[in-house]
Amino acid sequence: SAISLRVLDEVDSTNAEVVRAGHSGTHDIPVVIADCQTAGRGRRGRNWSSPRGENLYLSLGLTFDGGFSVLDGLSLVLGVAVADALEGLGAREIGLKWPNDIFIERAKLGGILIELQGELQEGVVQVICGIGINVHMKSAEGVDQAWSSLDQAVSGQQWCRNEIAGALISAVLNAADVFTRFGFGHFREAWQQRDIFQGKPIAARGGEISGIGAGIDETGNYLLDTDTGLVPVRAGEISLREV
Ligand code: BTN
Repeated sequence: SAISLRVLDEVDSTNAEVVRAGHSGTHDIPVVIADCQTAGRGRRGRNWSSPRGENLYLSLGLTFDGGFSVLDGLSLVLGVAVADALEGLGAREIGLKWPNDIFIERAKLGGILIELQGELQEGVVQVICGIGINVHMKSAEGVDQAWSSLDQAVSGQQWCRNEIAGALISAVLNAADVFTRFGFGHFREAWQQRDIFQGKPIAARGGEISGIGAGIDETGNYLLDTDTGLVPVRAGEISLREV
């Protein structure tokens, strides 16, 4: 299907802008890119550092049949799509931190924020898929974790935000289509290949559970190999950290 692409100089959040654009009456997929965000949103209510001209801030409004349960799988699927697209442009060894943080060289390169817009009709849900990728960023205020950018992590390459946006949009649309037709299972192996926690000691629920990272199950839950066996943790429920 066709997309309706808008490129803005400045916006509070490209995710919020796709929500406001609402349902245009056409069947075009709304896509918004901005040069900077004044209130970029991260997961868990956090702020997303969005300096002007430096990075890519992109959101798409997608529609899925299958009710709210599509969300858990979708989040992982988008991580795979973004990682594949960045490698297609020349980045190497893009990792995924469950559920969908984009990593390179043990530092965060980008993130994905999926927000539920609502149910159009029984079982048909609209979701906003927001993607932020650090491209040229040299310094970040208030970022409390190790971060990187494509400029920093990949040498000898000129990164062009338009080109990255084009690659990401087609990768996301294609992945959403494959996900709709074949389900999450189709992506499970590809996700596990990129799992930065595989075989590493990690903790979940603020240290309540700890174990060795053991990949994901068929529904996308993260598995911890603990003293008492494999324990699945649900997306949205907790965050994992290396110990
Ligand atoms: C995370 O916390 O890892 C998710 C970050 C998602 C940031 C992107 S930038 C484009 C889109 N608009 C937003 O306000 N957030 C997402």
